[in-house]
Amino acid sequence: MFDCSHWLRYVSKQLEAAGVDFIHVSGGNTIKRGSSMPAPGTSPAPHAHAAEEIRRHLNIPVSTVARINEPWIAEELIANGKTDICMIGRPNLCDSAFANKAFAGKTEDIRPCIGCGRCLTGIMFGKPISCTVNPSVQSDAVAPAVEKKKVLVIGGGPAGMEAAYIAKMRGHEVVLCEKTQELGGLLRLAAVPIGKQELYKVIKFMTRRLQNAGVEIRKNCEVTPDMIASEFAGYEVLCASGAKAKEIEAFGCFRQTMTADDILSGKGFPGRKVVILGGGSVGCETADYLAPLIDDRFPANRDVTVIEMTDALMAGEGGAAKSILTQRLMRKGVTIELKSTVSKVDETTITYIKNGTEHVIDDADTLVFAVGYTPAPVNFEGAHVLGDCHQVGNLKNAIAEAYAFAKKL
Ligand SMILES: Cc1cc2nc3c(=O)[nH]c(=O)nc-3n(C[C@H](O)[C@H](O)[C@H](O)COP(=O)(O)O)c2cc1C
Ligand code: SF4
Repeated sequence: MFDCSHWLRYVSKQLEAAGVDFIHVSGGNTIKRGSSMPAPGTSPAPHAHAAEEIRRHLNIPVSTVARINEPWIAEELIANGKTDICMIGRPNLCDSAFANKAFAGKTEDIRPCIGCGRCLTGIMFGKPISCTVNPSVQSDAVAPAVEKKKVLVIGGGPAGMEAAYIAKMRGHEVVLCEKTQELGGLLRLAAVPIGKQELYKVIKFMTRRLQNAGVEIRKNCEVTPDMIASEFAGYEVLCASGAKAKEIEAFGCFRQTMTADDILSGKGFPGRKVVILGGGSVGCETADYLAPLIDDRFPANRDVTVIEMTDALMAGEGGAAKSILTQRLMRKGVTIELKSTVSKVDETTITYIKNGTEHVIDDADTLVFAVGYTPAPVNFEGAHVLGDCHQVGNLKNAIAEAYAFAKKL
């Protein structure tokens, strides 16, 4: 890395001599994506080493910024002499009461910023500022409902949890039923790939919030039409039962097939030579999860190929996380076939066409589907349908839709 510490020291000393009150140490540029607004899964306070170096030579306070997204990180940085002041950017957007909650020791109540960067993406395209995890961005206050209702929420993924919480805060009586033993829905799987673990914090935060608000949570509870007609008669029914990974039936004849979700949930165990169909976020993250840490053809390592129809990986995504993941896939030796369409699959071969030429893979042992999701079927007449089971989208879409609906319920 280019060492510019002598410049930093020199310029800082000049600024101090000129009478500035304190020096803020940030950094980055648009070429090295994520250098100024670091991506999820990257280290907190990436400029702390520079802040520490400058601080050693000055008598005025020094501050730093970036991914100081939990109070304990700020405390450690200050206690260890890295900085005098911590600046908090995105975490304040995600929870405008960040500082007050930290001060009150209520750190578990802080809505976690996952570093996704979607707040910036929006404003770069002229949209109002918004946040993936904090749908209101500003105040957490919601107006009490004029008419108090009994509300049943089906599905404990992010949309269901958000709707249940907001409905409860507005004074409704809320029961949330989740058919599995855990809340979180597909977010639990999204949190499995490398660098995505912060998503668990969102599940933890939303779960805790529901419990504290007094929402009745029933796990291992699959709601049936009979239950709606009896126990939940008269309830306003909100269905947020999520989505299911798609499979391509015609390719099911291959010797071993599974979805990316099967792998991430631990239900499916792929072999050594894996072909992933679909180079969207899920396909790329699954490739990253399966591929060896380095590009090494040691026989025990997996050999992973991603086949994508379009000319880009993770189309529709942007920002630092995408470029970091793409670089990592390349470094790990994942074979990426863009503009490639699978034309035929039989028990032992996968044939795809790229630039008009036919290619045959005859040594793969696993074909993985990462070809999107289908909304889960909704069998409840009159139910309000929210989140992925309404329209498959991302975490931000699911939370925003549920929030907007429950605010008016
Ligand atoms: C919505 C948004 C707008 C930003 N605008 C600017 C800006 O105009 N100038 C700048 O130097 N940094 C800007 N930043 C970068 C932040 O100042 C900060 O350095 C960066 O987000 C990393 O800190 P954080 O992890 O605490 O958010 C912006 C960040 C966000 C999220
Ligand atoms: S959009 Fe993402 S990065 Fe921005 S404040 Fe919200 S959670 Fe944090």
